[in-house]
Amino acid sequence: MELKGSSALVTGGASGLGAATARALAAEGVHVTVFDLNEDGAKSVAGEVGGDYVVGDVTDPGQCQRAVDQAASGGTLRITVNCAGIGWVGRMIDRQGAPHPLEPFESVQRVNVFGTFNVMSKAAVAIAKTEPLEHAERGVIVNTASVAAYDGQIGQLAYSASKGAIVGMTLPAARDLSVVGIRVMAIAPGLFDTPLLGMLPEAAFHALGASVLFPKVLGDPTRYGQLVVHIARNSYLNAEVIRLDGGIRMPPK
Ligand SMILES: NC(=O)c1ccc[n+]([C@@H]2O[C@H](COP(=O)([O-])OP(=O)(O)OC[C@H]3O[C@@H](n4cnc5c(N)ncnc54)[C@H](O)[C@@H]3O)[C@@H](O)[C@H]2O)c1
Repeated sequence: MELKGSSALVTGGASGLGAATARALAAEGVHVTVFDLNEDGAKSVAGEVGGDYVVGDVTDPGQCQRAVDQAASGGTLRITVNCAGIGWVGRMIDRQGAPHPLEPFESVQRVNVFGTFNVMSKAAVAIAKTEPLEHAERGVIVNTASVAAYDGQIGQLAYSASKGAIVGMTLPAARDLSVVGIRVMAIAPGLFDTPLLGMLPEAAFHALGASVLFPKVLGDPTRYGQLVVHIARNSYLNAEVIRLDGGIRMPPK
């Protein structure tokens, strides 16, 4: 798919993988709208890439619609990338013998799963209204899973469940949207050097890098942006989850 001159919506675009995606798409001539809770970050990334930003929460359907409308007004909306997400660590039974509380389990699903669903479904309607390109293609949606969908570690019950849902939505979403010429893909990142991991002490940071099969470093977020650009361009990629992880297979802990 030709990217130049199209418009993209990137959730979680104020930081980490989303910000790298916004930069990579903008470098290909795409008009990017950043949608994020973090106003300062969203404004700064949007300013850097010459795009727009919408401050809002992916769990709120109305705010998602506003972000989609903004992205659609910035050009022909062909690309939507869901990078907004949160983590949580907690075992099924904690050290005091108490069960995993429902609230954090629920809020992780609300942001990671419901948020992705909200943005994906609303963006699909907008992309479906665009003029078709070669082979009736109209656009692509890329969601962010995690290797935790497959190699969930001790304490990752809530997070792994949410990322497993992203994996599970990929095929039915691609099937639903095939009639309107929209592809759906997901990326399952391994360990990436984002602000989240950057807060770790240096020794822990290097230990994590050393646990990668090859190359023995944490992932550079620009690699994520490169893959999104490739997925957007390569119209034969559809209904698949790509691990982007340097070959890592996470151990139980
Ligand atoms: N960094 C990694 O190693 C890694 C590995 C696997 C998967 N992931 C996934 O990649 C995605 C991006 O992670 P990252 O490392 O770039 O994290 P990050 O914390 O740097 O960025 C996440 C962004 O999402 C935004 N956000 C969070 N909740 C939101 C909400 N309700 N509404 C709108 N925006 C919201 C945050 O403000 C932030 O800007 C997440 O889904 C994460 O689970 C990251």
